[in-house]
Amino acid sequence: MLIGASAPRPILTHMNDHHPTLRSNGPATPTSRRYLVTGAAGFIGSALARRLLDEGATVVGVDAYTTTYDVAEKRARTTSLLRRPRYEHVEGDLVDLPLAEILDGVETVFHLAGRPGVRPSFELEDLYRHDNVDATRRLLDAAVAAPSVRRVVYASSSSVYGDAPLPFRETRPTAPISPYGRTKLEAEEICLAANGPALETVALRYFTVYGPGQRPDMGLRRFAEAALAGQVVELLGDGSQSRDFTYVDDIVDATRSAADAPAAGLAINVGGGSRITLLGAFDILGELLERPLDLVFHPFARGDVRHTAADTSRARELLGFEPRVSFAEGYRREVDWLRSRIPVAA
Ligand code: NAD
Ligand code: UGA
Repeated sequence: MLIGASAPRPILTHMNDHHPTLRSNGPATPTSRRYLVTGAAGFIGSALARRLLDEGATVVGVDAYTTTYDVAEKRARTTSLLRRPRYEHVEGDLVDLPLAEILDGVETVFHLAGRPGVRPSFELEDLYRHDNVDATRRLLDAAVAAPSVRRVVYASSSSVYGDAPLPFRETRPTAPISPYGRTKLEAEEICLAANGPALETVALRYFTVYGPGQRPDMGLRRFAEAALAGQVVELLGDGSQSRDFTYVDDIVDATRSAADAPAAGLAINVGGGSRITLLGAFDILGELLERPLDLVFHPFARGDVRHTAADTSRARELLGFEPRVSFAEGYRREVDWLRSRIPVAA
């Protein structure tokens, strides 16, 4: 069902009657490290899974294919991962999957599953609570009880800071201003409270992640897609808001490092050091497309943080984090990726 024409045929097994498991048909390497990536059909989770497979690890991916955006995009990422040896995929919701069975033999859990996005969270608080808080609580309970699991790395968010003074520091109080931010903070607290002799936990606070594969609801992708299609670019606010945008490969580097770094029990900022206003991003986009953009201004979105900037001293010290991709270069790669997706007219 998820198989591309040229793909090696995944083997379909079953966790139970409700949760199909797809296993890529590659050579068995029983000695490779076994990782669980939750949210593996997502933007960042799929990029992390690819990195771990590149290293020779075995990766179990879990995803519920929630309908936050076009599910075909999520399923296509799974199809692509299943072409690789040593990838196993379990479809289902972390809230009701048989987690003890899934965690059997897993050494590190990368917990990226969640309901992202600030703007819809005011209308859909129950769903945010389910995917961010309930799913995390159940996963952490199972991870503490699983003998093989050594560490959980959680994908937290810069949104836990709200409109805090810049730069955002881990030692400062958190003050989220959206239900999204509040549920991410609650989930982070669940993770860090579970840190102890049975399990180590680390929470990474990602700052607006972009690059090829970015979620279709996110600003940079929406702006570029509209401009490429010759449509108006819809801006929420006056464009003076700024983000410490972080390129997806840099996020993956930090996340991978967090599995083995001396960082147990800590929250750690991961920001790209490429802070720019949206108006600044539009200048770069106009240059990339070699044409001016047609901007339409709307009121600021509810819950929108005005500025983000990460103090990354802790990430540098503990994770050896060094962002490598500048905003101009990263956005160029994202725009190239979007261009490659535009169907060529017959
Ligand atoms: P994404 O929506 O592309 O990926 C999340 C995946 O989790 C989706 O494929 C979804 O189907 C899955 N999922 C959701 N609830 C689930 C559940 N209950 N059980 C199983 N699977 C479930 O989002 P993304 O941009 O890749 O973000 C990944 C993580 O990083 C999220 O937790 C998000 O909050 C966090 N984060 C993202 C950013 C960013 O800029 N993209 C920034 C900060 C934090
Ligand atoms: C992003 C992610 O969407 C969250 O999941 C994540 O947790 C958060 O980063 C984070 O850093 O923790 P956000 O910074 O709001 O949240 O990123 P976008 O959704 O890409 O929005 C960026 C800016 O563009 C915002 O000011 C937003 O209002 C604006 N925007 C977005 C528009 O002007 N128009 C749009 O169509 C979309």
